Amino acid sequence: MQNSAVTARAHTNIALIKYWGKKDQQLILPMNGSLSLTLDKFYTDTSVEYLPNLNADVFYLNGTEVADPKITRFMDIVRQKTRSSNYALIKSTNHVPTAAGLASSASAYAALALAATAAAGQNFSLTELSRLARRGSGSATRSIFGGFAEWLPGTDDQSSYAQPLDFQTDWDLRMIAIVVDALPKKVSSRHGMQTVVETSPFYPAWIKSATQDLAAIKQAMQNNDFQRFGEIAESNALRMHALNLSAVPHFNYFEPQSLIAMQAVENLRAAGISCYYTMDAGPNVKVICKNKDLDVILDKLHHYFPSDHLLVAAAGPNVKLL
Ligand code: ADP
Ligand code: DP6
Ligand code: CO
Repeated sequence: MQNSAVTARAHTNIALIKYWGKKDQQLILPMNGSLSLTLDKFYTDTSVEYLPNLNADVFYLNGTEVADPKITRFMDIVRQKTRSSNYALIKSTNHVPTAAGLASSASAYAALALAATAAAGQNFSLTELSRLARRGSGSATRSIFGGFAEWLPGTDDQSSYAQPLDFQTDWDLRMIAIVVDALPKKVSSRHGMQTVVETSPFYPAWIKSATQDLAAIKQAMQNNDFQRFGEIAESNALRMHALNLSAVPHFNYFEPQSLIAMQAVENLRAAGISCYYTMDAGPNVKVICKNKDLDVILDKLHHYFPSDHLLVAAAGPNVKLL
């Protein structure tokens, strides 16, 4: 075992076909497959150092010590997999708002998976890291990979992991994050999706339609059909939010400005500009477009949102050691 800090960087990812429900809460196995784009603009840096004198893991987030049982649970899995016993000093910095629907849990556990295994002297493959990151947060399974990543739902720990798509598009995609509210959400992704699984009468229909959406969006990409790609992503996101509205108790992640953003995108489309939105477990809307249309879309969005709330991202890289 090494006795020095190891730092890893992982980028967030935004799902175009969403993961929203677990069939196994312990192992974090999803009800359906999902597909995401890893983003260059938003990431987490995490350092891990195993120290023989610690009697518990110590975790700092953005410079403040935080007690988070999810970290201890995850590090216990790492210790089991790496056959090590020391506790760790973990320091993490989010270059993304935390718990705001911009996927901090995805970059967080992807970075921690790499840093924690490398600091234990082990060289996990990307697939092994993807399986491990999944145990911290489902969406993290996809943040191991850059570009488009598909999470294969699997049926057990071994078969549930992400992989990069084996084809590319030439769209030079951009994602504009419209930051409506960067504060932590009231309903965590973990709690929200479980409420939906247990109470929404629409849940069986979601599994069916999300599975169809995943196959259809990959086909649209292979057909170079950006319009169909965007339509499927937008519809899939709205169906996820429809689950939340139909849960008991019902909840939602919309704020007035979220609806303004969605309407602005629809108006742009009516004016002949090809762009689509998606939204996660938080009020911030993400606009999907081609780089060639970026300026005209930003011009329009500037009518409603200040420029420092319009963050432009492109495809980001694999997880890496710094
Ligand atoms: P998000 O939309 O940001 O992914 P979630 O509700 O899925 O929001 O997850 C937020 C949780 O992820 C936080 O409460 C915290 O437990 C965890 N998290 C966020 N950033 C980090 C980090 N850098 N290191 C470890 N855990 C983190
Ligand atoms: C709406 O991965 O954050 O962003 O697995 O419970 O940690 P846990 O949840 P998380 O859920 C992400 C939900 C989503 C859609 C997605 O990323 O696929
Ligand atoms: Co999350």
